[in-house]
Amino acid sequence: MKESKPVVRIAATARYLPDDVLANADLERMVNTSDAWIRERTGILERRIAPKDMTAADMGERASLAVMEKTGIEPSDIDLIIVTTATPDRWLPSTACEVQSRIGAARTCFAFDLHAACTGFLYALSVAEGQIASGRCETVLVVSTEKMTSIIDWEDRSTCILFGDGAGAALVRPSDDDKGILSSYHRSDGDMALVLQRPAGGTAKPIDEEVLRNRDHLLRMSGREVFKSAVQSMARAGSLALEGAGKTCDDVDLMVPHQANVRIIESTARYAGIPMERVFVNLHRYGNISSATIPVALDEAAEQGKLANGALVLLTAFGAGLTWGAMTMRW
Ligand code: UT7
Repeated sequence: MKESKPVVRIAATARYLPDDVLANADLERMVNTSDAWIRERTGILERRIAPKDMTAADMGERASLAVMEKTGIEPSDIDLIIVTTATPDRWLPSTACEVQSRIGAARTCFAFDLHAACTGFLYALSVAEGQIASGRCETVLVVSTEKMTSIIDWEDRSTCILFGDGAGAALVRPSDDDKGILSSYHRSDGDMALVLQRPAGGTAKPIDEEVLRNRDHLLRMSGREVFKSAVQSMARAGSLALEGAGKTCDDVDLMVPHQANVRIIESTARYAGIPMERVFVNLHRYGNISSATIPVALDEAAEQGKLANGALVLLTAFGAGLTWGAMTMRW
C-alpha cells in the first residue's frame, strides 16, 4: 500500500527540565517506601522538581524559546499556540496566553489551553494538524508543560513517587515531502473519570476547610485500574494507528510511549508486538511528567540519534479522563 502524503510534520522539538533532582532515596525519608520498591514496581530512579516559584508557564516559556531558537522562527511567524497542561498557572486566563506574552507573540496569533491530561500532546498534535490542513494556520507551537509536584499529595506513597516536572515543545509545520503525521487514533472514556482525578478545586467541589483537611484538592488515583486500562488502550490504539497508516509492528523503527511506569511500557510493547530495543524509555530519570513526557522523549531520542531521517515512529499515550491515543509519523 502506498503511504499517504502527510499534511504536517514536527519541524523541531525542545525541552526544559528543572535542575533539582528528587531521588528515590529522598522519598524514603518522606513516606514509607523504598528505592527497591519504586525501581521494581515503576522503573523510576529519580525525577525533576521545579522550584516553588517556577510555574508551568515558566517551564513552557523556556521550552518554547529553545524550539524557536533551533528553527530561527520569530514570534510573529507563529499562528497558534496550544499549551497542554493539567497544572495551569491559574484557572483564568489560560497558560497558553501567558506563554504567548512571554515569548513575544501577543496579538499576532491565538492561544489556548488543551486539557487531556497525559494524552494532551497527542490531542494537540491532531488539533494542529487540522488547523494547518484547513489552511488557517501555517506554524503551530505545541507546548506541554507540567508542574505535577504542585498537585501531588506528598503523604500518599502510591502517587507521590510517580510524578515529576518539566516541559516539551514542538513546532508543527506543513509537510512538503513524505515526513510527518501518517495516522492517528484517539479516544476517551468519561465513564472512568474518577479513577484518576483531583476531586476538589473546581465547581464540583470548591476548596473549603474540609477539602483542605481531607486533602481532596490533590491528585487521587486507583493505580491498579489505571494500569490495566493503560496497557489495553495504548496497545489497541497503537495497533489501530499502525493499521490506519497501512503499517505493521515490524515497520516501527521507534515507539515513543507516554512514560508512566516501565511495566506499563513493557506490557504495551509486548501486546503491540514491538521489542523493547525499539522502544524509547527515559522515565527512570524523570518519572511521569504527564503530557510533557512524549515531547521530552522525542527531543532526547532525536538528540541521541535514535530518530533517523525517515524513521517510522509510533507514539502512544494514556491519561486521566480517561483519555488515550496513538499516532504514526515518518520522522
Ligand atoms: O499517566 C497515567 C497515570 N498513572 C499511571 O499510569 C500509573 C498507573 N499505575 C501504576 O503505575 C501502578 O499501579 C502503581 C505504581 C501506582 C502501583 O503499583 P502496583 O504494582 O499496582 O501496586 P498496588 O497498588 O497493587 O500495591 C501493592 C502494594 C500495596 O500494599 P498491600 O496492600 O499489598 O499491603 C500498596 O500499599 O504496594 C503498596 N505500595 C507501596 N509500597 C511501597 C503502594 N505504593 C507503595 C510505595 N512503596 N511507594
